[in-house]
Amino acid sequence: MAKIIAVTNQKGGVGKTTTAINLAAGLAVADMRVLVVDTDPQANCSSGLGVVKGTAKSLYKALIEAQALEEIIHATELDNLKLVPADNDLTGAVIEMLELPEREFLLKKLLVPLLHQFDFILIDSPPSLNILTLNGLVAADSVLIPIQCEYFALEGLSDLFDTLARVRRSLNVGLNIQGILLTMFDERTNLSDQVREEVRNHFPNHLLETVIPRNVRLAEAPSFGKPVLLYDIKSKGADSYIKLAREILNHEKKGIR
Ligand SMILES: Nc1ncnc2c1ncn2[C@@H]1O[C@H](COP(=O)(O)OP(=O)(O)OP(=O)(O)O)[C@@H](O)[C@H]1O
Ligand SMILES: [Mg+2]
Repeated sequence: MAKIIAVTNQKGGVGKTTTAINLAAGLAVADMRVLVVDTDPQANCSSGLGVVKGTAKSLYKALIEAQALEEIIHATELDNLKLVPADNDLTGAVIEMLELPEREFLLKKLLVPLLHQFDFILIDSPPSLNILTLNGLVAADSVLIPIQCEYFALEGLSDLFDTLARVRRSLNVGLNIQGILLTMFDERTNLSDQVREEVRNHFPNHLLETVIPRNVRLAEAPSFGKPVLLYDIKSKGADSYIKLAREILNHEKKGIR
C-alpha cells in the first residue's frame, strides 16, 4: 500500500515543489515506485518533471470530470517515477469543486485504485489553504512541511498547525506530521542557524535531520524538466535530497510517522 505524503506550506516559495520533485526522484532511484500528484494550478511540479504546459491532461479531468487518474498518469525520465500533471485549468476547479458533494474527499477517492501500484505518492500543494490543499491533506497519511531559512520563516506556521489540527478532528483522523524540512539553508549565514534553532525550540519532535542547502543546481534543473539527480548528480542539492529519501525510508522501516 502506498504511503501518501502531502508537501504543504501555505507560504509561497519555500521549496515545496523542489522537494516534491527531488524527494520523489530520490525515492525512485532507491527502487520505490513513486507517483507525484501536482495539485497546484501553477503546475511548476509538472513542468519540472518534463511536462510542457497545455500538452497533457491535468488533474482537473479527474477532480471535475471524474476521469480515472490512471488515464491521466504521465511517464517521466525515471521509470519508477510517474506524474499526475496540473495545469491552469485547476484554477477553475477551486470554484467548481465547492459545488460538489464530499468535495474534500475527491482526491482521496481518486487515489484508491492506485494504492497498490505505488510505494509512495507525493502531493505537491499550492501556496494557500484552499480546497485543493485540503484535498491533499485529507488524502495524505502524513504532511511534510518545507521551511525556507529566512526572516519570517516561522510566520504562518501556527496557521498551518491549526489547519492540520482541524483536518485531524473532522476529515482525516490519522494525519501525521512527517517532519519539518529546512530548505535553502546557507551555512555561511547566521540566519540559517538561527532559523534551525528556532524550529528546534518550537517543534523539537518534528525537525528532520536532513537539511537542504541553497544550491543553484536545484534552481536550474526544473528548466530542463529534470530532477536534480538527472541534471547534476554530484551537486550538493542532489546529495541532500538522496539523504532525505533515505531518512524517510528509515521512518518507514522503523514504523514511525
Ligand atoms: N535549495 C534550494 N536552493 C536554491 N534554490 C532553490 C532551492 N529550493 C528551491 N529553490 C528555488 O526557489 C524557488 C521557490 O522554490 P519552489 O518552487 O520549490 O517553492 P514552492 O514552495 O513550491 O513555491 P510556490 O509556493 O510558488 O509553489 C524556485 O525558483 C526554486 O528553484
Ligand atoms: Mg510550488
